[in-house]
Amino acid sequence: MAILLTGGAGYIGSHTALTILNSGMDVVVLDNLLNSSEEALKRVEQLTGKKAPLIVGDCTRKEDLEKVFSQYPIEQVVHFAGLKAVGESVEKPLLYYRNNLDATLTLLEVMRAHGCFDIVFSSSATVYGTIQEMPLRETLPVGCTNPYGWTKCMSEQILKDTAAADERFHIVLLRYFNPVGAHESGMIGEDPSGIPNNLMPFICQVARGRLKELSVFGHDYPTKDGTGVRDYIHVMDLAEGHLAALHYARDHAGAEVFNLGTGTGYSVMDLVNTFEAVNQVKVPYHFAPRRPGDIATCYADPAKAKEVLGWSAKRTLTDMCRDAWNWQKHNPDGYRS
Ligand code: NAD
Ligand code: UFG
Repeated sequence: MAILLTGGAGYIGSHTALTILNSGMDVVVLDNLLNSSEEALKRVEQLTGKKAPLIVGDCTRKEDLEKVFSQYPIEQVVHFAGLKAVGESVEKPLLYYRNNLDATLTLLEVMRAHGCFDIVFSSSATVYGTIQEMPLRETLPVGCTNPYGWTKCMSEQILKDTAAADERFHIVLLRYFNPVGAHESGMIGEDPSGIPNNLMPFICQVARGRLKELSVFGHDYPTKDGTGVRDYIHVMDLAEGHLAALHYARDHAGAEVFNLGTGTGYSVMDLVNTFEAVNQVKVPYHFAPRRPGDIATCYADPAKAKEVLGWSAKRTLTDMCRDAWNWQKHNPDGYRS
């Protein structure tokens, strides 16, 4: 039996593929490679000594999913496939709704047709919208501020309704906080195309000299140093969270939501200072206006994942900064290096 990872060639998917393969289970990947490279999976194979077959195909196409389910004995699915750029989703809402919702709906239909009912879904802390009550607990109401976020809220609802209507479904919704870092080997990591939107890859490219300076968006937030606070989580901790979720899904019907975060918030300046100290590199920066749509502070209450899944994040901010830079240093142009 095998675990299907949709979007498994991407950043979080490739680290999760590695973790699942190392745990002794088989992995099959379906990815359209729109935002990823086959090279990531080749490196996963080098690191684990095991191959995860890649089917280049699209989750919104029933025939592509049919091909996977008829060719492989899929027991459980982790559904990473999706578009994820918040800004782009504001400009191209139909693209985001079509891709992210269609992918979820088509996948569920094909799973059911093939008697596969266990699914772990990549949701996001973005579903907490502008809630200011920290730490964020799973019981808070959801609501979003951009089309990308709405695709996560809506997919969560689709999955919950599906579990409510059909008790054969075992569904786990994972709300990721801010995934950063890379596998400690430096062989796989985050490889954004163009100028990165997110803080850690931007810092890495400034440290490397590819970008001149970091713009710190806002230094007048009500936080300890005025810069935005987030719950950064090492991507390998996140990958291990998926393994725990897959184990849980095996014998729990229904739909259950879990935050995957550390429970600790760090500011933009914490990240810059730690990155410089750990890696002995300079990260030139300047203060810039707030980025529209950003909130001051966002961090998880990770207690439920600890209690129910027996999972908690182990790696520190130092580990995240060291591993992110290790990947960047060895792969200055990502998988094209
Ligand atoms: P990623 O872009 O690296 O990976 C997503 C993968 O899905 C890519 O390989 C892409 O080619 C593929 N894909 C997209 N649409 C597809 C489709 N219709 N059919 C087949 N493949 C498709 O992103 P990631 O950072 O690894 O994120 C994985 C998931 O986690 C996404 O759903 C994302 O929204 C969610 N998430 C990410 C973050 C983050 O900060 N990275 C935070 C919260 C949630
Ligand atoms: N920031 C900067 N300069 C930059 C980039 C970011 O100062 O060049 C700041 C932001 O203002 C924010 C913090 O760094 O305070 C983190 O920003 P990111 O863009 O790295 O992450 P966000 O918290 O804005 O959003 C990320 C994902 C979303 C996801 C959310 C919660 O991009 O998709 O985490 O999981 F929804």
